[in-house]
Amino acid sequence: MSSTYFKRFRMESDLGTPRTVPALPPGYRFVAWNEAVIDVHARTKFRAFRAELDAIVFPCLGSLDGCRRLMREIRGKSGFLPAATWLIARGNTPESLQWCGTIQGVAERGGVGMIQNVGIVPGHRGLGLGRCLVERAVAGFRMHGLGRASLEVTVDNARAMRLYQQLGFRRTRTVYKVVDAAAAESALEPVGAL
Ligand SMILES: CC(C)(COP(=O)(O)OP(=O)(O)OC[C@H]1O[C@@H](n2cnc3c(N)ncnc32)[C@H](O)[C@@H]1OP(=O)(O)O)[C@@H](O)C(=O)NCCC(=O)NCCS
Repeated sequence: MSSTYFKRFRMESDLGTPRTVPALPPGYRFVAWNEAVIDVHARTKFRAFRAELDAIVFPCLGSLDGCRRLMREIRGKSGFLPAATWLIARGNTPESLQWCGTIQGVAERGGVGMIQNVGIVPGHRGLGLGRCLVERAVAGFRMHGLGRASLEVTVDNARAMRLYQQLGFRRTRTVYKVVDAAAAESALEPVGAL
């Protein structure tokens, strides 16, 4: 059985200095956490990750069921932070409503806020939404008195690496994720309507 190794960085940013959440582009809005939106987070996560490198590194991200399991797991963590868990939506009528981005945050020991998966649905990328979501989660961490924000990123994910570096995240550790080659191959579900 063959395996693939993916190099990942753990990155951290100090939250000592106050920072502002950039304004969303016109037409977009943040939607706060409540229990009713757990499945919206799962579906948005799936649509953001299903064709991406991280769906190979973490096969659960490549299936809707996997994203639902992951959301239940994140929601069930003792450190789950609603104030660092956000959606971005566009459109005000049921017909025009689009879910564009998702992020979740969890408080860990030692005053660290861990960003879970930040994902922007294709078609809404490159507009600054990813930056806004990360800063919104970071503001939630600060509100809870956390001193540092942390995340893990696959080094080959150039867009994400660039985003985090620009937001002041710096590498603190290198880790390797081992993925069974067969699991990696079956990770990407055919793209269907949601
Ligand atoms: C990574 C991701 C969240 C970025 O979201 P985004 O909304 O497109 O990012 P933004 O528009 O806020 O861009 C912020 C920075 O990201 C980088 N970036 C965004 N799009 C880029 C692209 N196509 N190429 C290179 N860098 C890019 C740039 O540094 C950009 O800063 P700039 O505007 O000054 O150039 C998005 O591409 C995504 O959801 N990818 C799939 C899921 C994923 O891999 N998530 C990260 C898990 S760790």
